Amino acid sequence: MATERTLSIIKPDATRRNLTGKIIAKFEDAGLKVVASRRIRLSQADAEAFYGVHRERPFFKDLVQFMISGPVVVQVLEGEGAIAKNREVMGATNPANAAAGTIRKEFAESIEANSVHGSDAPEAAANEIKFFFRDLDIVG
Ligand code: CMP
Repeated sequence: MATERTLSIIKPDATRRNLTGKIIAKFEDAGLKVVASRRIRLSQADAEAFYGVHRERPFFKDLVQFMISGPVVVQVLEGEGAIAKNREVMGATNPANAAAGTIRKEFAESIEANSVHGSDAPEAAANEIKFFFRDLDIVG
């Protein structure tokens, strides 16, 4: 399998509870390498643009408010099959359905405050990485 890069966001529910280290350890234990990282506060415009594909969904407004409610840590993760591997480590979107040992099973508070975001496909990963990072910021 090819080496890939994917975008990860550690969400406000997790930064609020000081869980960034525990979450990053899960990525590293799975063989994913953090090749770029920034702790930032998203503006409303940033959050609306990032989650633009969900604009028509009933949860969009609440999701944007949640994502701007505190700091987030945006990261690029690199590794063999990184997109699928990250999704495996995160677990299902709804923590009630997430497998044991996954980030969302262990840490998520709800389907919205679900601790992490990860790109779902190669094209999304490329676009989401570009949203936050310049090529120069990514050091493999
Ligand atoms: P994420 O993987 O970041 O992608 C979209 C986000 O919307 C999702 O995680 C959740 O935080 C949030 N969300 C809230 N309600 C729902 C829902 N019913 N279905 C999917 N995502 C939801």
